[in-house]
Amino acid sequence: MNDQTIQTAVIPVAGFGTRLLPATKSQPKEMLPVGKKPVVQYVVEELESNGIKQILFVTGRNKTSIEDHFDFDYELTRRLREGGKEELLPELEYERMRLEFFYSRQRRQKGLGDAVLCAQHFTKERPFVVALGDSILGLNASSQVVSTMIRTFEEEKPACVVAVEEVPEQSVSQYGIVQPGSRGAVFPVVDLIEKPSREESPSNLAIAARYVFAPAIYEAISSTRPGKNQEIQLTDAIRLLLKNGEKVIGVCLPPEEHRYDIGNFQSYFEAFIEFALNDPQLGPKLRESVREFLHEDR
Ligand code: UTP
Repeated sequence: MNDQTIQTAVIPVAGFGTRLLPATKSQPKEMLPVGKKPVVQYVVEELESNGIKQILFVTGRNKTSIEDHFDFDYELTRRLREGGKEELLPELEYERMRLEFFYSRQRRQKGLGDAVLCAQHFTKERPFVVALGDSILGLNASSQVVSTMIRTFEEEKPACVVAVEEVPEQSVSQYGIVQPGSRGAVFPVVDLIEKPSREESPSNLAIAARYVFAPAIYEAISSTRPGKNQEIQLTDAIRLLLKNGEKVIGVCLPPEEHRYDIGNFQSYFEAFIEFALNDPQLGPKLRESVREFLHEDR
């Protein structure tokens, strides 16, 4: 039996994805494939394996393919059966995940903080998980860090738990960075800053796309003014929680886990290559092709 107290997750997927143009002109970045599956399917599968039962997508314009992707498609199933393509049916197994899906719209893209605020009437007084729809945790979404974060939340009763990952110093300006109060796998956060320069960055610990929040975050977001890029930044709202004397805790991804950020082409390409090379059927052959490629003088 699942006695985990937090079983609700919010996945914001309303962003424009401008860093991935032209690929994202008319399709959501969360639907870009990494290996065989779209990014957001990995996110949902990870949440399900971490005990989540209800998912609220915060969507926006041009995002309806995400909703379609998680519907049952009886017509397609029938066509595969009647067309003698039963061997493809397991590819639709994910439709049977024991999850309930809900949808809300962020009508204007005013930033991640504002997207989370769109979940308020859904989560009400309950704590909840936030998982960014453009980031996969662990190869093939194997991460169990959300379960660790939920346990930490239940035991320590903070206002917020964030997943963090060490990033190279030259990359800190791409992430929300935390200042730890002590070292360790689980630690108090004393400050955070969104996309700092290398000089102003308090550490190289980047927020890794997963959060657990008490409802106090809504009040903090509502009191947060637009920051970087004129957007309401979730990091700024968490900072406000700290300022109000609330507890914020960081949980490090285990060393063998990595956050695959599908928000820019460099890390999207890297993620695609790694997932494809590890594909059980196609990976071994692909490795040979890549080796040949790399040894060719071009
Ligand atoms: P990003 O910070 O990468 O922003 O979003 P973006 O707008 O999607 O991308 P760029 O900067 O234009 O390339 C992180 C996650 O938060 C969601 C995105 O959909 C993504 O999953 N998001 C962001 C929203 O839901 N609403 C927003 O207003 C901004």
